[in-house]
Amino acid sequence: MLSLICALLIHLSHVSASIEDPSISPTPPMGFNNWARFECALNESLFTATADAMVSKGLLAAGYNRINIDDCWFSNYRAENGSLQWNSTLFPNGIIWLGQYLHERGFKIGIYEDAGNMTCGGYPGSQGHEHEDAATFVSWGIDYLKLDGCNVVIQKGRTNEEQFKALYSLWHEIFSNMTSPLVFSQSAPAYFSPDFQTVQNNTDWYTVMDWIPTTGELARHSDDIKVYGTNGHWEPGGHWDSIMANYGFEVRLARYQKCGYYNDPDFLIVDFPDLTIEEKKSHFALWASFSAPLIISSYIPDLTQEEVAYLTNKEIIAVDQDALCLQATLVSQDGNWDVLTKDLANGDRLLTVLNRGEETSSTKISLERVGLDPDEIYTAKDLWTGSTKTVQGTISLRNIISHATAIFRLSSSSLASTPTGMIFNTFSMKCLTGTPHSVGFSNCTGTDSQVWQVSTSGLISPLSAQMCLAEEDGYLSLTDCNISSQYQQWNYTISGNLINRASGVCVTESRGTTRCGYEKDNQVFALPSGVELSDDTRII
Ligand SMILES: *[C@@H]1O[C@H](CO)[C@@H](O)[C@H](O)[C@H]1NC(C)=O
Ligand SMILES: *[C@@H]1O[C@H](CO)[C@@H](O)[C@H](O)[C@H]1NC(C)=O
Ligand SMILES: *[C@@H]1O[C@H](CO)[C@@H](O)[C@H](O)[C@H]1NC(C)=O
Ligand SMILES: *[C@@H]1O[C@H](CO)[C@@H](O)[C@H](O)[C@H]1NC(C)=O
Ligand SMILES: *[C@@H]1O[C@H](CO)[C@@H](O)[C@H](O)[C@H]1NC(C)=O
Ligand SMILES: *[C@@H]1O[C@H](CO)[C@@H](O)[C@H](O)[C@H]1NC(C)=O
Ligand SMILES: *[C@@H]1O[C@H](CO)[C@@H](O)[C@H](O)[C@H]1NC(C)=O
Ligand SMILES: *[C@@H]1O[C@H](CO)[C@@H](O)[C@H](O)[C@H]1NC(C)=O
Ligand SMILES: *[C@@H]1O[C@H](CO)[C@@H](O)[C@H](O)[C@H]1NC(C)=O
Repeated sequence: MLSLICALLIHLSHVSASIEDPSISPTPPMGFNNWARFECALNESLFTATADAMVSKGLLAAGYNRINIDDCWFSNYRAENGSLQWNSTLFPNGIIWLGQYLHERGFKIGIYEDAGNMTCGGYPGSQGHEHEDAATFVSWGIDYLKLDGCNVVIQKGRTNEEQFKALYSLWHEIFSNMTSPLVFSQSAPAYFSPDFQTVQNNTDWYTVMDWIPTTGELARHSDDIKVYGTNGHWEPGGHWDSIMANYGFEVRLARYQKCGYYNDPDFLIVDFPDLTIEEKKSHFALWASFSAPLIISSYIPDLTQEEVAYLTNKEIIAVDQDALCLQATLVSQDGNWDVLTKDLANGDRLLTVLNRGEETSSTKISLERVGLDPDEIYTAKDLWTGSTKTVQGTISLRNIISHATAIFRLSSSSLASTPTGMIFNTFSMKCLTGTPHSVGFSNCTGTDSQVWQVSTSGLISPLSAQMCLAEEDGYLSLTDCNISSQYQQWNYTISGNLINRASGVCVTESRGTTRCGYEKDNQVFALPSGVELSDDTRII
């Protein structure tokens, strides 16, 4: 028994997971990947030209220090001794040489493999070769691995989800045993995400999300950003929708992110001719507000000055790389405006506002909605222009162009903020709506009855009424706030459940409250950032 415990302890001491060892990636990675722009039309000179241009255009200096090679770099066959080999027509000097070229210029080099027995592009996969492939990557000087999830072979007796967990955990353990582990970018959740072909419900997606922050530094949680066209041949259409679709997956998962692990909504696309400059800038500002990885997939040598200028905006990069690593969450969504906010490490508050509508328009946002004190005076710094203004009570945004994003840093002498925003079901996307007469879920319209404040003691109150969410006999209601009543106190867990502290039941869409199930579609919710997660013994 004692030796078993010792073995366990020794074993645990070797496991340096992402969130257990945030030093592997203390902030979200930044850099370049060829996939969305070129797919399989890759070669050595693309990467050297990209690196040279990233140096000369100031992208490296701005923090974009990773050059990642995606699928199709391989030779079709492993070597006789089983090692992976690069395609020497595409990489005449070889990947070891390319790594040295990149390292000499201040970059890290990343590579792509697949957890299954074949990559998505049909090249040799790593399943059954994990140890030797990891050793090969180390011997080549590779710093970062993106591990895709095509063609995973499911062992008898395992579910698909269990098989993915086994494979990604194995890679994690191999990396954890290294003195300098590779950064591990995991594609597993994307294979369980809500619009993947075989998915009927979100249970497996949530389950994978529950463990993925402990097995690597980042995870592609949903679809690929729509590529430029087949192997770099331009095909217009759908790129803005694709950005908004991935944004729509990202907002459901904020609770999982903390320093050392980042939700990854996929690449920044820049030189795609069907995107307006405002759309490209929104893409960048939204991803930065999420503290998401900023990995550009574009032909860097041809980026315009205007494109480089926004990609190197120091203030917005500082939001992305902020030491709190928080993902901004939704305050409100009304069809036209998406409002997001989060705390920043120096005590400032971020305000990000996307005009999803088709017209240029103006809006006003009360600072209470952003979780701030309506009586306090704040300095609002526009992170696009650097200009500042003094605001109190509300902030006015004038003439925001269709699909543009306004982004501000709000500061004052007071550092206090209250977690404030939408509470929504991440399956139905419906918003918790509370009036003195009824509490339930309905379409998100951005009214005060859908913007909630969550106190440190677990009270939940809408801006529309000074009343608190309570549970009684299976029903939800708003009643006069009473900090002593456990029926008004709620635990929020990593599994996305809202659990009543008095009765132990879970908020359940359409049914009030019911017994907590396991990652059930009607019981998983997104809450505003800043809400502390309670222990959840059912997970891990
Ligand atoms: C390398 O790839 C780029 C991007 O696809 C292409 O434009 C270029 O012609 C290729 N170069 C060679 C030598 O094949
Ligand atoms: C290398 O890539 C070229 C171009 O895609 C292809 O024609 C060739 O078959 C590949 N060679 C190997 C050894 O996989
Ligand atoms: C396997 O063979 C390749 C060349 O064919 C060589 O570069 C590599 O070092 C060998 N790997 C091992 C583990 O011996
Ligand atoms: C991958 O596994 C499947 C299922 O076991 C098998 O049919 C296929 O031949 C394997 N492919 C490779 C390249 O090993
Ligand atoms: C990691 O190291 C431990 C201790 O040396 C060893 O028992 C374990 O098998 C290693 N894990 C992997 C996946 O190589
Ligand atoms: C959820 O979907 C899986 C298949 O993806 C299915 O096996 C399971 O029964 C479904 N659960 C519910 C509650 O519908
Ligand atoms: C809610 O939204 C759905 C989908 O957009 C729409 O079909 C439905 O009519 C809306 N319901 C109400 C009550 O507005
Ligand atoms: C507040 O809740 C406590 C604990 O349930 C109860 O004893 C007290 O009477 C309540 N106060 C009011 C004003 O309802
Ligand atoms: C709520 O969370 C606290 C702190 O994590 C925990 O002690 C308590 O058991 C939880 N209550 C319920 C009903 O889950």
